[in-house]
Amino acid sequence: MTAACPWQGTVEPEDHGTAAPAAATITPYPDGPLVVRGDFALTTPDGRQIDARRRTVALCRCGKSTMIPFCDATHKAIGFRAGNPPDPAAPA
Ligand code: FES
Repeated sequence: MTAACPWQGTVEPEDHGTAAPAAATITPYPDGPLVVRGDFALTTPDGRQIDARRRTVALCRCGKSTMIPFCDATHKAIGFRAGNPPDPAAPA
């Protein structure tokens, strides 16, 4: 079964722990960006590669960065609030 992606079509079903360890990690920082570490490909919605130039990047979550998709710390100036942090124990 596939899940609908709110941005572009469908995504693959979850593997429920049967896949190899993730090549990248994504960490939502409190009231800040999504920090991506590891091996990843960053692309535009139509699939063109964005040169991240490093193995760790901070992606804007507030939508106000002047360097989208990257965070430029504008979230601090605008008082961005991300809501409750994720609960790893909660079912998906
Ligand atoms: S999350 Fe940092 S500028 Fe948007």
